[in-house]
Amino acid sequence: MRIGVLTGGGDAPGLNPAIAGVVERATKFGIKVIGLKRGWEALCLEDNSRHVVELGPEIIREYARLGGSKLLCSRTNPVAKGRDRTDLVIKNIAKLKLDAIIAMGGEDTLGAAAELSRRGVNVVGIPKTIDRDLAGTEYTLGYDTALNVITTSAERIAHSAESHQTIFFLEVMGRHAGWLALRGGEAAFADIILIPEHPFTVGKLASVLREKLALSSSMGFEQEYKIIVVSEGAHIVGEEEVRKDAKLDEFGHYSLGGVGNYLKGLMEHEFKHTRYSALAYIQRGAPPTHKDRQIGRRFGNNAVDMVKEGDFGCMVAVQRSRLVRVSLEEIKKSPSLVDVSSYYDTENLNVKVVSTINGV
Ligand code: F6P
Repeated sequence: MRIGVLTGGGDAPGLNPAIAGVVERATKFGIKVIGLKRGWEALCLEDNSRHVVELGPEIIREYARLGGSKLLCSRTNPVAKGRDRTDLVIKNIAKLKLDAIIAMGGEDTLGAAAELSRRGVNVVGIPKTIDRDLAGTEYTLGYDTALNVITTSAERIAHSAESHQTIFFLEVMGRHAGWLALRGGEAAFADIILIPEHPFTVGKLASVLREKLALSSSMGFEQEYKIIVVSEGAHIVGEEEVRKDAKLDEFGHYSLGGVGNYLKGLMEHEFKHTRYSALAYIQRGAPPTHKDRQIGRRFGNNAVDMVKEGDFGCMVAVQRSRLVRVSLEEIKKSPSLVDVSSYYDTENLNVKVVSTINGV
């Protein structure tokens, strides 16, 4: 038996441990693993000789500890409208004598996997995205590592913010979902957290900031420092998200970025010393945490079992803290967004106190 493995979309810590988990389990059964480089691109080219690499057990220890994806990522959409390459994908799978594909990705890569599965391709999915917004699973690879980077980065920013008595806008990823900002900001004791699920007004942001400053003016300086963690997808009521540029990727998405700077600009006429930093790719670029290594390995192991059992068109997922198999069709359901009424304090633009410790 031969399995092809690919990683699509943005890189995420946990992908390499998952690849290692696939190779580990496959080796046990004498299954050959073929790495397909740059996501679906490897199967969308007539000549993909440079995109194909055999992965033996010698890669396991190295991959297990690395962030990013050694198989490289791309945002290639094999089933893009007007550029459908399903026939070529099927031809390449036959040429490489692959019995199945294990695709690791978020809504786009696995959305394409679901479509290919409907067209007869044997495919199994592994969920990853630092945003943790995929439907059908409580965990996606990369989230925990990114959260840890956000928490420690906010702490570093706070040293500088304190020294200069600055109002600091720290922008983090999270296109549709505010989990990274909410839970990273919570652990970092951020003063304000802005998430895509709760559009706000400039007036509200200014008034919460004013209140926070009034409360903390005990030191007697003109302005104490404040940390505002902002999701890249957070936006003002009635306005669009702030885009990096006007380019669309193959899945029809704009790149977001710059909302922290935009808000800083809106606030600086009233508040002194405002600053902005975007964590951008630094939050994706860390070595995987214990959780991302452990879950990555388990996802990889289980995906091989799914292939062995012919359980195609499914992805390995976490539900109620257990590993389960769900149909790839699940990911078409609404993304996993922050439930504002349960988790977000709209009065204070911050986290709501919750009494659970697992999951969200
Ligand atoms: O993987 C999702 C994500 O992290 C989003 O939060 C972000 O919008 C996107 O990736 C940016 O990735 P890239 O610039 O690589 O397309």
